[in-house]
Amino acid sequence: MRSPRLLTICCLAFAAVAASALCPISARAEVVRSPDGIIEVEVDLDNSAPFYAVRRFGGEVIGRSRLGFVLTDGSQLTTNFKIVSAEHSAHDETWTQPWGEKKNIRDLHHELRLTLEQQDDQARRLVLVFRVFNDGVGFRYEFPERASLDEIAIADEVTEFVLADDADAWWIPAMEDNRYEYLYRHSPVSQLHKVHTPLTLETDSGLTICIHEAALYDYASMTLVGKVDRTLEAELVPWSDGVKVHTHTPAQTPWRTIQIVDTPGELITSYISLNLNEPNKLGDVSWIKPGKYVGVWWEMHLNTATWGSGDKHGATTANTKRFIDFASRYGFDGVLVEGWNVGWDGNWYDNGEQFSFTQPYPDFDIEELSDYARKKGVYLIGHHETAGGIDNYERQLEDAYDLYERLGVRAVKSGYVVQGQNIRRREGNKEFREWSHGQYMVRHYQHALETAAKHHIMLVVHEPVKDTGIRRTYPNMMSREGARGQEYNAWDWQGGNPPDHTTILPFTRMVSGPMDYTPGVFDLLLEKGDRPNNRINSTLAKELALYVVIYAPLQMAVDMPEVYEAHLDALKFIRDVPTDWEDTRVLHAKIGDYVTIVRQERDGEDWYLGSITDEVGRTLETPLNFLDRDRVYVAEIYRDADDADWKKNPTAYEIDKMEVDANTVLTLRLAPGGGQAIRFYPKNQE
Ligand code: NOJ
Ligand code: CA
Repeated sequence: MRSPRLLTICCLAFAAVAASALCPISARAEVVRSPDGIIEVEVDLDNSAPFYAVRRFGGEVIGRSRLGFVLTDGSQLTTNFKIVSAEHSAHDETWTQPWGEKKNIRDLHHELRLTLEQQDDQARRLVLVFRVFNDGVGFRYEFPERASLDEIAIADEVTEFVLADDADAWWIPAMEDNRYEYLYRHSPVSQLHKVHTPLTLETDSGLTICIHEAALYDYASMTLVGKVDRTLEAELVPWSDGVKVHTHTPAQTPWRTIQIVDTPGELITSYISLNLNEPNKLGDVSWIKPGKYVGVWWEMHLNTATWGSGDKHGATTANTKRFIDFASRYGFDGVLVEGWNVGWDGNWYDNGEQFSFTQPYPDFDIEELSDYARKKGVYLIGHHETAGGIDNYERQLEDAYDLYERLGVRAVKSGYVVQGQNIRRREGNKEFREWSHGQYMVRHYQHALETAAKHHIMLVVHEPVKDTGIRRTYPNMMSREGARGQEYNAWDWQGGNPPDHTTILPFTRMVSGPMDYTPGVFDLLLEKGDRPNNRINSTLAKELALYVVIYAPLQMAVDMPEVYEAHLDALKFIRDVPTDWEDTRVLHAKIGDYVTIVRQERDGEDWYLGSITDEVGRTLETPLNFLDRDRVYVAEIYRDADDADWKKNPTAYEIDKMEVDANTVLTLRLAPGGGQAIRFYPKNQE
């Protein structure tokens, strides 16, 4: 290990000649440091095999970890390399999101491009690109065009993450039946089998680390497999024939990302993934607008209405008008309608080939409803459930989006309900079963997204491939599900999401991007449904707080019009809360216990606070020093009543108003399983 003095000298040297400095640890090693000099990455060859290591303040975070590939023809890109060139560069740019959790994002990093060449007749090349930010590292592989390397079939990506200590991991299993829809578990890295990313780790030395990927295009998703010695190995999700990725040169992999921060809260405001994605490719995106929606949806999950036709059909013209009227009266932008199209009758999840994406059920007058919605100043949100019938869907994709564009449907929710490796792919007469996060589906989701963009339609994807920040490049990619959402509370036989679920999501699933969790149930006990063991494991005030805690640009208000109309005072928070933000800050953060987030309205003066806890009641001291120092604000506080408790008294809430300023320290009192939501607006706005 080098002395701190040497480290300082090297950093100064780097600052002086940022574009071309080299600061090797050994004679040959390449080192690239974060702009603040705190994180350093060493990349080198060990007996001709490439590896990297990451240190922070000189202490090891990721030990020597292997890099490279094994191809299906038995050849390898793991060893026998020499370094051909090393280029260093520095980058500092602030860019503006068309919508998001923060308006302006700074992309500040140092980059190393290391070109390797194999020392044999074929002289195949591999380029390693590392970008080091103040809050972590991204790296990817590039396969340059080479006579000896044209078609590539990857058998294995050998990327490793050798952790310095046996950190505590927050994880869900990968390549199991239920995609990403599991409750998070918590155990040491040494005990992990196969897990999804983002994988969030709390180290013995007090760091929070998140391993994930950015810009996943035409490649397989990366899962992580635990090996001995605290090593996590990349395992790509395979095609049905076992091949991981088919590509041809020139090609590049997604970025592998390692966010490294002092506290879990900093993960929430780390924008490495977006910075590693390319800028907007869609040109004018003024048609893309965040907003809020209601819909013909919750009643199907409660089983008081059906997707399929018959007496209980939810998507009727009359019922949809009821939601349009409600949306229009209370300022919601969109009305989602599921079960509008032919194909739901019978076991729809086994019959993906039966869905029509253009033919409505006879009791759903789509033309009349689109007119009705337009006149009422709202738009319909379309729905495409595929049940994994990808061929059927792709055949209809153009016509389906064409229809919706003509009708003024500005957003579509899509769905891919399948179990395990159950996406049907046809090649001639043969049928294959694919995973929903292998290369085949990564291609499909992208194709659907680009088709939607062509028709000026925003997408909300359920059962998606994980988010890797591609909304920067395709800003019509709004929210995804990709975790257990509210719906589990309606029907999960194990009793839904326990109170700590939403205190884990912000530090795990949400690190990847916005989520369509669909908060806002006020009828928490679900007494009208036919499932006595299901209810929402939350308080009403916590349901409100989730609008701030769980970021989504298109945010749903789930419950039925009549339920909201019985609580118009609490509905006011959902009506007021924006879905597009100037800035986001995290005030309290303990994974699995509690989190408090404040966000400032985009181009506005108001701030919103959401604070939630697990099953333990607690008080959190909250300085309001994020507010403008020269102003007095009104705080509109939606809190758990003194006797509220998620188990015994979940719907008890109070609404208080008080004057506050930047010097105020609020004491947030959260009931067991509860939360608190606050709107702050300048006093002179009253
Ligand atoms: C699962 C989705 O998550 C849910 O929102 C939807 O209602 C059903 N699939 C039916 O498409
Ligand atoms: Ca789902």
